[in-house]
Amino acid sequence: MKQRVFSGIQPSNVIHIGNYIGAVRRWVASQNDPDKENIFCIVDLHALTVPQDPTELRERTLDLLALFLAVGLDPDKSILFVQSHVPVHAEGAWLLNCITPIGWLNKMTQFKDKSSKQETILAGLLDYPVLMAADILFYDTHEVPVGEDQKQHVELTRNIAERFNHHYGETFIVPEPMIAASGARIMGLDDPSAKMSKSSGAVKGHAVNLLDDPKVIERSIMRAKTDSGSDIRFSKDPVKAGVNNLLTIYQALTGKTQEAVETDFANARGYGDLKKAVAEVVISVTEPIRVQHRAIIADRGELERLMQLGAEKARSISEPRLQDVKQKMGLLLPQ
Ligand code: AMP
Ligand code: TRP
Repeated sequence: MKQRVFSGIQPSNVIHIGNYIGAVRRWVASQNDPDKENIFCIVDLHALTVPQDPTELRERTLDLLALFLAVGLDPDKSILFVQSHVPVHAEGAWLLNCITPIGWLNKMTQFKDKSSKQETILAGLLDYPVLMAADILFYDTHEVPVGEDQKQHVELTRNIAERFNHHYGETFIVPEPMIAASGARIMGLDDPSAKMSKSSGAVKGHAVNLLDDPKVIERSIMRAKTDSGSDIRFSKDPVKAGVNNLLTIYQALTGKTQEAVETDFANARGYGDLKKAVAEVVISVTEPIRVQHRAIIADRGELERLMQLGAEKARSISEPRLQDVKQKMGLLLPQ
């Protein structure tokens, strides 16, 4: 039996190389694996859990679909859709809310993190992982390829699935988080002690965004924070976090082993050489994506058509599962 793969990404801010290395790039690989059936979702309902500008959110949703296509996700091979186009997600989240203890949500580190930055904490932000559980569970998902920061949310999803199955009988598949051994947590270029994040994406020199101009990319990487030494090696030492991060980016994008990467820099004359090489690799990966994206975003009609097609396919999988869950929970289904 094919393994069903489901993952999602928010249309908030721009997509950076952390998102690409930790998630999206791996989705493209999964799409080309004949043993997998892949579903990738633009999670616009999740984006609403923090304040958004309505016009910008709509633009970024289309932009992200164009980016999906530009990186090589193929609507003939994978199901690509927008979360709010399939009502199962919101409805399923409500049903799962009614079996999820609130104590589980209070423990989520991402909630603690994000809520500490908000003036008003919206109920949706606390509930965010339950919506994510609905995304995953109503598609009978086996594998969830995400970056390290989403591991806790997938574990919560597993707990919700097990609790439901225990109360109402075997219903949901208990999914596995798929976290890459390397590159699952790319750090900020300006501060390698904190992960590269979309919310800091506007801060100059923090992230490399996939659609950045090559000159901007070069500047950000050349200014990346390192240390006062000159040793170019993978290292867990917090002092070397900047160099380690640059090497990790280089390794992820070249597909080389750690040893091969260190050999590449054995004769480097300092961090300048390392940064130049990293900038080159990053630009060689992002530039074709940027060019593709520009062409794709211009054809709005085609994007609309693909969104509709993706939503129909997604609905045909998740709708029957929703009916089953409603029936099990005691809701009277209209005949
Ligand atoms: P988000 O930006 O929260 O929508 O995340 C989209 C995907 O990118 C998720 O699978 C995250 O785990 C992953 N991701 C986000 N930031 C990073 C990062 N700095 N390094 C690696 N993966 C990341
Ligand atoms: N919460 C995820 C993030 O911010 C995005 C997401 C929403 C997701 N639903 C999902 C990821 C389902 C995997 C599966 O990165």
